Amino acid sequence: MSRPTVKPYKDSAEGKKAQVEQMFDNISGKYDFLNHFLSLGIDKGWRNKIIRMMRNDAPQRILDVATGTGDLLLLQGKKLRPQRLVGFDLSQGMLDVARKKLDKHGLEAELVRGDAENMPFDDNSFDAITVAFGVRNFENLEKGLTEMARVLAPGGKVYILEFSQPQAFPFKQIYGFYSRKILPFLGKLISGDASAYTYLPESIAVFPYGDAMMRILEKSGYKPLQYIPVTLGVATIYVATKEA
Ligand SMILES: C[S@@+](CC[C@H](N)C(=O)[O-])C[C@H]1O[C@@H](n2cnc3c(N)ncnc32)[C@H](O)[C@@H]1O
Repeated sequence: MSRPTVKPYKDSAEGKKAQVEQMFDNISGKYDFLNHFLSLGIDKGWRNKIIRMMRNDAPQRILDVATGTGDLLLLQGKKLRPQRLVGFDLSQGMLDVARKKLDKHGLEAELVRGDAENMPFDDNSFDAITVAFGVRNFENLEKGLTEMARVLAPGGKVYILEFSQPQAFPFKQIYGFYSRKILPFLGKLISGDASAYTYLPESIAVFPYGDAMMRILEKSGYKPLQYIPVTLGVATIYVATKEA
């Protein structure tokens, strides 16, 4: 069954990919502030949890897909110290911010601009792949996941952090009001891009989560391992492996 496609700019005839690139180029300068402000800093804890989960395997070749302004990449560089660290993203504006942050912290990483659905990496070239708040923005989710499975080494793991939908009363209702009313208002006010922060709750509402996401991972070439809802299900961390 095909999923409805939600795009950032409703009046534009461009495809989702071009619109997503434009949106992140537009908001790149304000992205970090808005991210931490609108999530009350909780997003930092979610990324740290991924780092703790990765630690046991000590992956030496790490690819952070949809790295954006590089928050997860920075943590990987600081805390996991891999031999090879690559941040990959569609938006040059976001990568420019990531580069500045890496330089400020004296960290080395390759930053590559491109499309996650068609990456310029050899088969089996990474021990771990991470994606934080990226897969929801892919034009073709299955294609992106399959491409990540191609470049992941057998036995390697993928860690996906993505928004999901809280179910518990009354948190579901409170969060629904926050994400549909307050978040778009503040997002527009601060970023100047009215569409970006209505796209956020709209894209979350149609995006698969929980067991549905595990089934998609399985169809895309992985053995799904576990999923962990965080902050009452506002987001979920999915872990899957490529069988050796
Ligand atoms: C919400 S940001 C997340 C950034 C970062 N991972 C974080 O946790 O803050 C989503 C990022 O996904 C990138 N993106 C969306 N579609 C992409 C694609 N097809 N290939 C590569 N990057 C993509 C966007 O350019 C944007 O930087």
